[in-house]
Amino acid sequence: MADFDLVTKAVVPAAGLGTRFLPATKATPKEMLPIVDKPAIQYVVEEAVSAGLLDVLMVTGKNKRSIEDHFDRAIELEEVLEAKGDDERLSQVREPADLATLHYVRQGEPRGLGHAVLCAKQHVGDHPFACLLGDDLIDYRDELLKRMIEVRQARGGSVIALMEVPKEQVSLYGCAAIEPTDEDDVVRVTDLVEKPPADEAPSNWAIIGRYVIDPAVFEVLENTPPGRGNEIQLTDALRTLAGRGGDEGGPVHGVLFRGRRYDTGNKLDYLRTVVQFAADRPDLAPEFVPWLKEFLANR
Ligand code: G1P
Repeated sequence: MADFDLVTKAVVPAAGLGTRFLPATKATPKEMLPIVDKPAIQYVVEEAVSAGLLDVLMVTGKNKRSIEDHFDRAIELEEVLEAKGDDERLSQVREPADLATLHYVRQGEPRGLGHAVLCAKQHVGDHPFACLLGDDLIDYRDELLKRMIEVRQARGGSVIALMEVPKEQVSLYGCAAIEPTDEDDVVRVTDLVEKPPADEAPSNWAIIGRYVIDPAVFEVLENTPPGRGNEIQLTDALRTLAGRGGDEGGPVHGVLFRGRRYDTGNKLDYLRTVVQFAADRPDLAPEFVPWLKEFLANR
């Protein structure tokens, strides 16, 4: 395999307006909402790093300065903690800045996920890249992204992550028509539809927010008209690539994911995610879980 074909960069679109979380997201980016004590976006960057991607480009927009501050040094705060000898908090404060090499590009206007990805064109260049959406947290122990990179390296083209959802939920996701391959967890994607009505969905397999994308997507996105919601949809561009051969940036494969995914994109799922993460934390669970049980028993 040629070096230029290695996946080394991650793109994290973080320019959304966060309207589902108003008023909390009026002045704070939704990506900065804490899951227990870390902002959601830090988990996403940690996942990219654990898949070996140390170059992370964030596509940001208005009101997103706190994301840059979070992944930067905080000298004043560090000095205070250092003077107190509070090494644990000091390392927590330094950790985000030491994780990866972060780059930023701004999406001037909210024209959709496809447009956000197009903003990464110059930074990514002619290489395949990973794209991680902050609304979905994937348990890093499930190594989804690593598997997707393997599939890209074996089969070329682009790779999306698919998860089976109940029929009535397909309209919340991009949805794939698929064919089996000789590997149990890998399918060939033959068609894609962004957020179809349940009765028009080609399957129950929903796109979750992890992608490994061939750079041919940029030229396709430049020529993709606004789709659902009058936005430029990444799903529509991938649909075009799914119809192409290997010499034109195709095909598209799906990795069927049966691991742990946590949705943080709406209030209810966000609450579930916070409770699950807290119940998994050795420092909090011994007090939190018995309290939660008692709280529920008395409802
Ligand atoms: C985006 C994509 C959609 C995908 C979803 C996964 O939608 O457009 O295809 O299924 O992420 O979270 P959004 O949730 O940003 O509306």
